[in-house]
Order: sequence, then C-alpha cells, then structure tokens
Amino acid sequence: MPPTDFEVPGPQMNKSYNHDVLVIGSGAAGMTVALQLADKHRIALLSKSSIKSGSTWFAQGGIAAVFDNEDSTDAHFQDTLAAGAGLCHEDAVKYTVENGPEAIHWLIEQGVQFTQNHNNAEYHLTQEGGHSHRRILHTADATGKEVSTSLSDRVAERSNIELFEHHVIVDLITQADKNSSRIRCTGAYVLDTQSDRVCVFQAKVVILATGGASKAYLYTSNPDGATGDGIAVAWRRGCRVANMEFNQFHPTCLYHPNAKAFLMTEALRGEGAYLRLPDGERFMTKFHSKAELAPRDIVARAIDHEMKRLGSDCVYLDITHKPAEFIESHFPTVKAQCLAYGIDITKEPIPVVPAAHYTCGGIMVNKMGQTDLWNLYAIGETAFTGLHGANRMASNSLVECVVYGRSAAAAIDQTIETIPEPESARPWDESRVTHSDEDVVISHNWDELRRFMWDYVGIVRTQKRLERAKHRAELLQKEIQDYYSNYKISRDLLELRNLVLVAELIIRCAKQRKESRGLHYTLDYPKTSPIAKDTIMVPINYAGQNIVVNKD
Ligand code: FAD
Ligand code: SIN
Repeated sequence: MPPTDFEVPGPQMNKSYNHDVLVIGSGAAGMTVALQLADKHRIALLSKSSIKSGSTWFAQGGIAAVFDNEDSTDAHFQDTLAAGAGLCHEDAVKYTVENGPEAIHWLIEQGVQFTQNHNNAEYHLTQEGGHSHRRILHTADATGKEVSTSLSDRVAERSNIELFEHHVIVDLITQADKNSSRIRCTGAYVLDTQSDRVCVFQAKVVILATGGASKAYLYTSNPDGATGDGIAVAWRRGCRVANMEFNQFHPTCLYHPNAKAFLMTEALRGEGAYLRLPDGERFMTKFHSKAELAPRDIVARAIDHEMKRLGSDCVYLDITHKPAEFIESHFPTVKAQCLAYGIDITKEPIPVVPAAHYTCGGIMVNKMGQTDLWNLYAIGETAFTGLHGANRMASNSLVECVVYGRSAAAAIDQTIETIPEPESARPWDESRVTHSDEDVVISHNWDELRRFMWDYVGIVRTQKRLERAKHRAELLQKEIQDYYSNYKISRDLLELRNLVLVAELIIRCAKQRKESRGLHYTLDYPKTSPIAKDTIMVPINYAGQNIVVNKD
C-alpha cells in the first residue's frame, strides 16, 4: 500500500533509486526519449519484462513518412485526417507529418536498416490502408524487430542509461512543490518482479511510455503487457484522458485454434492481397471504393458484418496470385509463421479475424508530451496527442512515438536544470497486507473482464450492451480494489487493477458518444454528428496544469 501520513514507514529493506529522468517503458517511444537525453542526464529506463517486450517489437508493416518526390506532407496530412473521421487535431497531424522524415533519418542514424529497392539505393516504400501514396518504410515484414534491436543496442552503449528490466510501475509519487505549492510528479513505486520488492524511483522528470491497452479485449494482436498501466497510473494521479472509446481492431489476425493472435500485416493488402468469403468471393468492393485498402475501421466492420451474416468463424486473406518469390521476399515472417501452422500462403488463402490492436485515446498531452501533472510526460501509444482522431491510419504509430519522443526530450532538456531535486519519498509499506491464498480471483476476473469487453464493447456497440459492461466493470473494480488493499501485490494483480480501470474509462467514453464515428459504431446512433468533439474524462482529483490540446 502507498504509505499515508499516519503510518509508520515499513522496514527500509526495499531499494531506492535517484535519477534525473525516469522513463517507464522501453518501446520505440521510451527508448527514443532515453537516447535523446542520455548525453547530459542520468536516465532510469524501465521495462515490465525484457527490453523488447512491448508492441514495438511486433510491428510488421512499417513506419509512415513522406520519402517520395511524388508524395507530399499535405497528402500524408489529408490521408490521416480522412482516416481519423473528422476528429484529428490538425496541428498534431501537421506536426507529426512534417517531423516524420527527420524522425526516420534519426532512426537510420541509430542503425535501423530499412528495406531498399533492389535496383538502386532508395528505400522501398510499401502501401497500406488509407494511404494515397506508397510512403511506408519497412524492414521486410518485421520492422518493429529491427527498430527495437537497433535502439536497444544503442541503449546498451550509453553509460548514462540504467536499464531495469522486470520492473513494473505500481503508482506515481507526487509531492507539493515548496515554492509554488503546485503538485509535481517526483517518481514512482515500482515492483521488481524478480525480487518481489517494491522500490522507490525518484527523478525530476517522469515519462510514461507504457504502450496501449488492447489486452482489455479477449482477442488482441498485442503482447501480454499491453494493459494500459500508464493510462491508469496517470488517471489515478489526476491526469485527464480522452477518446478511449476508439480502440482499433486490426482486420486481419491469423485465425487458428493453436495460434495466439498473430498479425497478418496490412501490407499484404497493400501489395495486392484480396479478402474473400469462405466461398472465395471478394467482398470489400461492396463496402468501399478503395476495397481492401479502405481505412481499417471500415474493413474490420465489413469482416465482422460478413462473419455474422454467414455465421462463419473467419474470412480469408489471399495473396496466392502473386509470385512465390515476391511473397517470400516481402513477407518472410508471415510466411514462416503461417507455415508453422500448416498454411502455405503462396498456395492457399489465410484464415483471418479482427482483433483489438491499438488504443487511439490515452493520457492527454501537448506537443511536448506534457500531461496535466507537472513534470509528468506521456509519449507513444499511452498518450493522446490528437493525431489519430477516431481511427489511426496504418503505420502512423511508430512515427508518432519517435516524433513525440524527440520533442519531449527537447522540452525536458530545456527545463530540467530549473527543477529542484525531489524530497525523499517514504518507502512502500507492506506491514498490513498478507499473501493471498486465492489467486483464482485474479485469473477469473481477468477472463471475465476481457470477455465482456469483447462481447459488449467491441466492433459494433449498443447502449444496452455498454450499460451491461459498465455494471460488470464497476463490480469488478470493487472486488479488485478490495483484493489490492488486503494482499501483497503481484504483476498480475497490478495489471488487472489497471485493466479494469481502463476498461471502465473505455465504457464511459463509449457511452458518452451519441453518434457513430470511425472506430466507435453503435446501432443506437448510426449517424455521424455534424460536430466532431473529443470525449474528455476529467478525474475528481484533476491535477489541472491545463495544457493546451485544443482542436483547431
Ligand atoms: P510499446 O512498444 O508497447 O512499449 C511499452 C513499454 O512499456 C514496454 O517496454 C513495456 O514493458 C513497458 N511497460 C508497460 N507497462 C509497464 C509498467 N507497468 N511498468 C513498467 N513498464 C511497463 N504501428 C506502426 O506504426 N506500424 C506497424 O507496422 C505496426 N505494426 C504493429 C503490429 C503489431 C502486432 C502490434 C501489436 C502493433 C503494431 N503497431 C504498428 C502499433 C505500434 O507497434 C505500437 O503502437 C507502438 O510500438 C507503441 O510503442 P510504445 O513505445 O508506445 O509502446
Ligand atoms: C500492420 O502491419 O498491419 C500493422 C500496421 C499498423 O498497425 O500500423
């Protein structure tokens, strides 16, 4: 439990660390900001499990930026706005697309090797849904692995970055600033899952780069750690979150009884793959003029519609009409993965279903990644910059991680000298809790939560289903909070506690949106309102730094 003023601090056995900057999360966003600051400042870089455990490692398609003379930043800007269904913040889109190419050059300087054209030294640009040009740099179909590997190699070379793998944030630490009496963030309580101890990490600046929350759903393309921890800890300390109803479902994940969700990259469709019904008929032409390359929300909804109409378990993604060598060179990872399940993608169509993939909403930030809480930043998928609107365009996430990672670092570098050292925080107090003998409570609630989110808060929603989900989420919240207060914490418990809070925020946002727009589709309000508005959730303990994230 976090200590209160009335408690005697527990025995000082648990470790305490002091750095200039605490970066929580080692995906593209966290490693970018850490590397950018490492010349001058001492950084603690935390990861829930290994440094390569986030979604970044699994990214397939690539990273979007204007690299072709025929393309333009205006076209990237317009495509992003169109995919975002009227809800993108134009200033955030402009900022990202204008800074995208420089961000990619920085990645190349860090050693990232993007696939080049065979005939010349230019980068091969692939295509994905919503993009009017080929503008996606990639490393075959394993772009995230290349980005993660290069950045983590650079991290390992920097003596100023201390890496803490297997460290899970429990909650943020805040203090009242002596001079201004403003509340500021000064660190975090962190569970070391190898020693089972809760440590105190103190720093002048804290950055949340903890990724998304798609684990709230039963079926997801995301790795296990995507439990929205950053969103939950920021909310608990008074930060606003926005647009949580826009959870993106990727249209094409492998459907196989033995496969944990594995993504079939959108670049397959970008390079010509068709979506087919079980009888072989193409169907996307009925739903959108761009057919298989329509924005992701439309493709996922069309698949959901056809599966429900036909009562089928899946639809099929078919690239067999392309030469086998082409498939092998562009999609070696997908090909090998499918072959492991007995599917030869050069000869047969791939069974696919939609799965939760990306959290478009998150902690509200400005262009520097600043949150409502003084000295707390949020970057990457955990943040809400306004870039994605009601539906993220493919490959616009990695670029956002790097662009905002760099801008947050620049802002921190300019201000950190003026920030006083934090006062010592009290150690974590475990004197009143015991070991649980009923871990089944965690596993049961974990399953229940993810199932009702899938059934009631999925691709197609109704007010009644949302009401049911809200009721269940509230019951689970109470039960889990009770469990948290009485028993020793574990990673599973922390994740469940965060996930149920994030699920509740998703449901509350969804209930509040009385229209259908982008990824939020409800049978009760099928029309899109003429006025596009963000759904902003304000916590009762609002930290109120009042950053400006206005829509222009
Ligand atoms: P992540 O890479 O998810 O990293 C989160 C980090 O936070 C991890 O290190 C994790 O261990 C740590 N963490 C989380 N919780 C805690 C905690 N409580 N305590 C301590 N540490 C914590 N986007 C694209 O632009 N292009 C693509 O081609 C693409 N393909 C994708 C394919 C797949 C299968 C998936 C799942 C996503 C894909 N995306 C793609 C989305 C993109 O990969 C992610 O949005 C992006 O990588 C997020 O980066 P991040 O740094 O914000 O978080
Ligand atoms: C994919 O490769 O289909 C994923 C791309 C993305 O999520 O941006």
